[in-house]
Amino acid sequence: MAKLMYLEASPRKERSSSIAVAQEFLKSYAAAHPGDAIETVDLWSFPLPEFDGAAINAKYNVMHGLPHSAAEEVAWKEVRAVFTHFSAADKYVFSLPMWNFGIPYKLKHFFDVIVQPGLAFNFSPETGYTGLVTNKPAALIYARGGEYSSNAASKAADLQIAYMELILGFIGFTQFHSIVVEPTLSAPEQSKATVAAAKAQAARLAAEF
Ligand SMILES: Cc1cc2nc3c(=O)[nH]c(=O)nc-3n(C[C@H](O)[C@H](O)[C@H](O)COP(=O)(O)O)c2cc1C
Repeated sequence: MAKLMYLEASPRKERSSSIAVAQEFLKSYAAAHPGDAIETVDLWSFPLPEFDGAAINAKYNVMHGLPHSAAEEVAWKEVRAVFTHFSAADKYVFSLPMWNFGIPYKLKHFFDVIVQPGLAFNFSPETGYTGLVTNKPAALIYARGGEYSSNAASKAADLQIAYMELILGFIGFTQFHSIVVEPTLSAPEQSKATVAAAKAQAARLAAEF
């Protein structure tokens, strides 16, 4: 039995295009993989520790092989717990809106907590950085108000896909399956058709995922 983790990054719930497409993905996935477990992590209610001074010191202690103070140990324990929870899945689905050309801050906060030395990646002067979250596919459902796939200038402004592939690649992911829902801020009939096409794509991808 595999475990699929679905991370949801839009606060718009029933009005969200990314969530509507992700729900279609999950429906199709559950039908095709009836024995698998699906966990939803709603990043708008999931408790995350602050990544503050003590946590940053703890991170650098790990990188430099130094011991933690009591406060740093507490901070690092919380970070480890979030990473351990994340890394326990076999497959991942992320759904996210584009916000100011990038990703919503709740998802960025999540990455700032889990992307840690000795947990998500290792470093050695000989081999550089090595991601440790390996052999796990990720399905990525991106919603954006505008259109970014159409020409080089708009593509360059798309830091949403670029960031997700960079950060997930940094921690070891190599298999990305992307569904782009755009433009969602268009005439109602057009956005309806855009979401419907993305849902059909999501259902097909999920059956094979
Ligand atoms: C804070 C905020 C920033 C946004 N920034 C962008 C942007 O930079 N580019 C864009 O095309 N759309 C932008 N949008 C529009 C959303 O990407 C679009 O409405 C998308 O469908 C949201 O996904 P959701 O429906 O799943 O929440 C922004 C929306 C919000 C609320």
